Amino acid sequence: MPRQLFVTTALPYANGKPHIGHIMEYIQADVWVRFQRLLGNAAHFVCAEDAHGAPIMIAAEKAGKTPQQFIGEMQAARQQYLDGFHIGFDHWHTTESPENVELSQSIYRALRANELIEIRTIEQFYDPVKGMFLPDRYIKGTCPKCGAKDQYGDNCEVCGTTYAPTDLKDPYSVLTGARPELRTSEHYFFRLSDARCVDFLKGWTAGRNRHGEPHLQPEVYAKTQEWLGEGGRGLADWDISRDAPYFGIPIPDTADKFFYVWLDAPIGYLASLKSYFDSGKALARGEGRSYEEFIGSPEVEQVHFIGKDIVYFHTLFWPAMLHFSGRKVPDNVFVHGFITVSGEKMSKSRGTGIDPLRYLQLGMNPEWFRYYVAAKLNAHVEDIDFNPDDFIARVNSDLVGKYVNIASRAASFLVRQFDGRLAASADPSGAPAGSLAVALASADDIAAYFEGREYGKALREIMRIADFANEHFDKHKPWELAKDPAQRELLHAVCSDVMRCFRALTIYLSPVLPVTAERVARELFGLQRPFTWADLRSPLESIAPYKHLMTRVEAKQLDALFEPPAAVEEKTMPGGQPVGETVTIDDFARLDLRVAKIVNAEAIEGSDKLLKLTLDAGEGRHRTVFAGIKSAYRPEALVGKLTVMVANLAPRKMKFGVSEGMVLAASHADEKKHPGIFLLEPHAGAQPGMRVK
Ligand code: MSP
Ligand code: ZN
Repeated sequence: MPRQLFVTTALPYANGKPHIGHIMEYIQADVWVRFQRLLGNAAHFVCAEDAHGAPIMIAAEKAGKTPQQFIGEMQAARQQYLDGFHIGFDHWHTTESPENVELSQSIYRALRANELIEIRTIEQFYDPVKGMFLPDRYIKGTCPKCGAKDQYGDNCEVCGTTYAPTDLKDPYSVLTGARPELRTSEHYFFRLSDARCVDFLKGWTAGRNRHGEPHLQPEVYAKTQEWLGEGGRGLADWDISRDAPYFGIPIPDTADKFFYVWLDAPIGYLASLKSYFDSGKALARGEGRSYEEFIGSPEVEQVHFIGKDIVYFHTLFWPAMLHFSGRKVPDNVFVHGFITVSGEKMSKSRGTGIDPLRYLQLGMNPEWFRYYVAAKLNAHVEDIDFNPDDFIARVNSDLVGKYVNIASRAASFLVRQFDGRLAASADPSGAPAGSLAVALASADDIAAYFEGREYGKALREIMRIADFANEHFDKHKPWELAKDPAQRELLHAVCSDVMRCFRALTIYLSPVLPVTAERVARELFGLQRPFTWADLRSPLESIAPYKHLMTRVEAKQLDALFEPPAAVEEKTMPGGQPVGETVTIDDFARLDLRVAKIVNAEAIEGSDKLLKLTLDAGEGRHRTVFAGIKSAYRPEALVGKLTVMVANLAPRKMKFGVSEGMVLAASHADEKKHPGIFLLEPHAGAQPGMRVK
């Protein structure tokens, strides 16, 4: 029976661009999903914007947008990252959606019916100017311990003390600077400390899925036991409400209370799945059941990929919410570490040294990055490091030097000498083991490594096979066999074996290199469908000529990736400004640029910037154009010269008259530091009225 999987990654906050940490998480999950499908399992892979919460509300307000507009833009921008790195989510939704409202409210109602919701009055800081309760992060003040100024409401970054916001000296609101007042408010709590919750969580955290595998990795399990504490006494009730104004989902039967973002965020996994089913995409994947039937069926396995910073939410709150609302609980929560770049932690504000979009825009191959990240990943909560030199070495030596090399070498003999036909699979040389045999012998190990998220081990094993295939090929010196007609059969056998091994390697690598694998299947082997695991042993009789598969990474690409964009431009562009967005020739053709003769130029009273130019562009009339070039030119020096004018610019009413065009001039982006304005002048011979194109 094929497995039925519901797979998610963490829902990224909708107020930031995707960074390399997100991409790493998506790659980890995407490789796993692709591997499951390769085996013939059914996987439904969804994600969404995590839209709610105070920071997003405030960021949208700052940008002068509604939160919905703000999220919509983020969601639209995200697609190019996902496509760019070949991340194959089946569906991308948002927590600001009818499905999520409905699911969150119904889960809440179920918890309430189970007597797990309690209302308590708490004291909290309130910004009287902004008219809202302040989250801890929006309160700053002086550290009560060391006296450091401007410390956050939860801990001091100078001396490391943690405290409550009410302990701060001279507290102020980050939003308005106002002194916050303590006010009371009713908050809703999920009673996690209830014995039923504690018992359930002890069982679930220690439990196993239907395959006998633990729900949690050992180190994650250990962490949850710390949190649960002796006898479960470590669990505090969880404050799940926020007061208006808040961008979130209204709590049923309240006037102005909203769910705290972390309540509705994981429910967004289900909301996205529901929307995926309702949109007909699940059906297109061959899943005929409704959302309710699917998620209610006991065979379905629910698997979440997340990072180490959000374990508490996913291993305590989330399973408890699901269980006590009568729903399926997760089968696995797979936790990964963080990616650092050259050993440096990523800062929330600056991201890392790698901008994923820049990587793509530089034309770097996304499969290089997928391979590199996968080669570093294992099943543990360990950080991994992106090191540029290591990246170059791995990609070039493994992918280009070992893997691709096999195909390019074997294919040329097969195509030139044997018309692309492969020899029968038995090895007539009587060699103990051909390279295909070596590849197939590792099939179960490689599958187990992918299944267990030991991608590094899987890729090492795959490269060991590639090494073997290359050595096997070299050992027989096909280039010498090719000169001796008596050795033709051996030549054919060796190249055929190595080519079959290459196909096995491609199948093994296909979760990591989906585009290359698809090309190999189609172009080299004439396969009109994606590879399956069973293709490892399917017959292979002929190949098409080899087409170039992958180029090497160059050090200068990494340099460009890491160079701060400004510095790159400073070097290559004295103008100091990045090149603008690409336009088509048609865009450019919309501008009518003409050679114009300056028939008169004069200063204007009351303006120290402008000169009034009278231009002749061969139209049988003169035009008046005001140009901001007074600092650079004496008017008399311009009279009689030719320049270039934008002739179809809409006339513009200015203080001193109507300007009927614009002249072109060059200047540095930083005019203060690099003064100078340089009017364009055509080479000798140009006539007024000639089009510039
Ligand atoms: N919105 C929450 C998750 C809600 S899930 C119901 C959130 N968003 S996030 O954008 O901050 O992070 C999304 C994911 O990226 C998390 O799994 C997080 O651990 C992961 N990563 C953030 N920085 C990372 C690295 N430097 N490296 C790898 N993963 C990282 O948390
Ligand atoms: Zn301090």
